[in-house]
Amino acid sequence: MGVKRIVLFGAPGAGKGTQAEWLCNAVDLAHLSTGDMLRSAVANKTEVGLKAKSFMEAGKLVPDDVVVGVVVDAIAQSAKSTPNGYALDGFPRTLPQAEALREMLAKRSENINLVVLINTPEELILERLTQRRSCPDPKCGAVYNLKSKPPKKAGVCDQCGKALVQRNDDRPETISTRLQAYRKETEPLAAYYKKAGVLVDIPGSGSVYEVAGRILEAVAKLGRHA
Ligand code: AP5
Repeated sequence: MGVKRIVLFGAPGAGKGTQAEWLCNAVDLAHLSTGDMLRSAVANKTEVGLKAKSFMEAGKLVPDDVVVGVVVDAIAQSAKSTPNGYALDGFPRTLPQAEALREMLAKRSENINLVVLINTPEELILERLTQRRSCPDPKCGAVYNLKSKPPKKAGVCDQCGKALVQRNDDRPETISTRLQAYRKETEPLAAYYKKAGVLVDIPGSGSVYEVAGRILEAVAKLGRHA
């Protein structure tokens, strides 16, 4: 098929970022993570970052108008650097975001051709998020897991040598707010994309490679049907 426009969708800690990175390397797509873009904006104290900071620290969703603006720019940039397409990671997360994306793409006679719902049981999510450690440097942003993907040297990023941190929003009380926001505002999008005929629901349990295999299978089927 031609240009791939894929959404990786799922709860906090479902494995979206891990799988997006894997998929984008495998099939040469741009990885567009709204979480990474917003964390970078916060670190650089940009206007977007100043608007987003308090929401992110509280585990709440950043207002739609702020996020949509960031994504519109990122999609436009990615078309120049990665013509094969992109995988959106963490966007859309509300019905107004999904509608804004649909309208933006429709203006160019485009649409999202696959939405992968990574369905991960809550006990695994809690384990994955509390064990996650991240590189704080926005240019690196490598993600580790004390259990499933520890760094070679404890507490230090393998790729850039910076001291690893626990994300502010990976503390138990904030995780609970994020999961509530997911259930209330984001989960209903599964029905929206199912109705549009683009949703594939895959289990998020198992190793990174097992989950990646399920996603690649869905992407390969997309190629055959297009
Ligand atoms: P964001 O960064 O998108 O956070 P999230 O959706 O809560 O997702 P996570 O990054 O926590 O998890 P993930 O699913 O990517 O899992 P990962 O692969 O890292 O957003 C952060 C905040 O920004 C939001 O709370 C909100 O405030 C704001 N925001 C972002 N987008 C927004 C939007 N569209 N609208 C409004 N606000 C927005 O995996 C987790 C851990 O598990 C890692 O340690 C990983 O190594 C490990 N792991 C992954 N897969 C496996 C596996 N198969 N086996 C074992 N370990 C695994």
